Amino acid sequence: MSKYVFPDNFVWGTATSSYQIEGAATEDGRGESIWDRFSKTPGKVNDGTNGDIACDHYHRYRDDIALMKDLGVRAYRFSVAWPRILPKGRGEVNAAGLDFYDRIVDTLLAAGIEPFVTLYHWDLPQALQDEGGWTNRATAEAFVTYADVLSRHLGDRVKKWITHNEPWCASLLSHQIGLHAPGIRDYRAALSVSHHLLLSHGLAVPVLRKNSPGAEVGITLNLTPTVPASRSAADLDAARHHDGYFNRWFLDPLFGRHYPADMVADYIKAGHLPPEGFTDVRPGDLEIIATPCDFLGVNYYNRTVMRSDKVPEEQNLPRTEHLAPREEWTEMGWEVYPDGLRQILTRVHLEYGPAKLYVTENGASYSDGPDAEGRVRDARRTQFLRDHFIAARRAIDAGAPLAGYFVWSLLDNFEWERGYTQRFGIVWVDYETQKRIPKDSALWYRGVIAANGVVD
Ligand code: FCB
Repeated sequence: MSKYVFPDNFVWGTATSSYQIEGAATEDGRGESIWDRFSKTPGKVNDGTNGDIACDHYHRYRDDIALMKDLGVRAYRFSVAWPRILPKGRGEVNAAGLDFYDRIVDTLLAAGIEPFVTLYHWDLPQALQDEGGWTNRATAEAFVTYADVLSRHLGDRVKKWITHNEPWCASLLSHQIGLHAPGIRDYRAALSVSHHLLLSHGLAVPVLRKNSPGAEVGITLNLTPTVPASRSAADLDAARHHDGYFNRWFLDPLFGRHYPADMVADYIKAGHLPPEGFTDVRPGDLEIIATPCDFLGVNYYNRTVMRSDKVPEEQNLPRTEHLAPREEWTEMGWEVYPDGLRQILTRVHLEYGPAKLYVTENGASYSDGPDAEGRVRDARRTQFLRDHFIAARRAIDAGAPLAGYFVWSLLDNFEWERGYTQRFGIVWVDYETQKRIPKDSALWYRGVIAANGVVD
């Protein structure tokens, strides 16, 4: 029997986001968001659903917080819906929106659960999208105003702030690949968006600190260890490029290294940036983006094995890296690769030296539902979490300053373009009745929290 005990005061938590769980999409003055618009556009969400009702958390938050308390969860990472606070993105403040998050924060604190608030988990007010959204530099200024309004209100009680969730998704996935709202396919626009997101982060950091004395402020990136499928020059270069596209494009500027020169060169060559370079970057922007933070949040789901399509298969052997067998993939079609978490945390620690790290999301999609006795035996999820917790413990052994871990997700919820087809929750949600059933993985997680580690 091995024991993987974590450092004292390790923050064990769960995570959610506003659009994925709240529902009440038109209630109490909430404005329209780009996800309302996108999910109601035929063909965008593969089961034709949306977040209008979702987990009805807007009305059931007390029960959901009681559930977390019962599991012994120490911290809860949730996001605030910008269009509840400023329905048009800027201008008039909606007091009812602030009241809702007041109630959440107060209920959490009364339950002894620390709130970790994400300001932007992708539900941009549609009114700002109508002006160009994040392609527009002015949206970064609107974000700072939103951060100011929110943190003036909650800053006395909320002491952990995350500006953005996964800027790769909010920029490239949604403006280059077009899979997420607003569903644009324009590489240049996507790169402008990436810059404006990072700029808005840097501009918001001092505002959050001012309004929330003593708070920790950071940003969450989704990171993936990228490995070449072989040692061939073409695969090695494909892996370099992908690492730049996904990881370094965000890590480098946040840690004061400017945008990676190899990527700027690749993008100019491909016509994704003009020949003059990254013209969205104005003097002073890179210093703002590199404002030192108190922590970096890391979301980890899987690794990426890069195979160049430029090399005929026969010249490209031997392929030294192989994906795990299909049965070790989750229902998202994502490979299960726990050691990737150790790898990425260790790399970030050694190469960038963040003051502190949190795993702000990690979890798995498996659809196991209630059996005849109403019990959800999601043994694969428990195994997944156990293996990833152990990988995280190994990163701590290697010196990574990991201070907490948030399981994605507390509840089954609206999984973006996959609708309700994917279930990431440690708590089952019956969408017909809104009944919640803690799955076996949740009960196992309660034991991990109580023991401060994996001890069985
Ligand atoms: C992350 C998102 C989160 C959820 C998980 C599965 O990229 O931040 O909202 O969709 O993936």
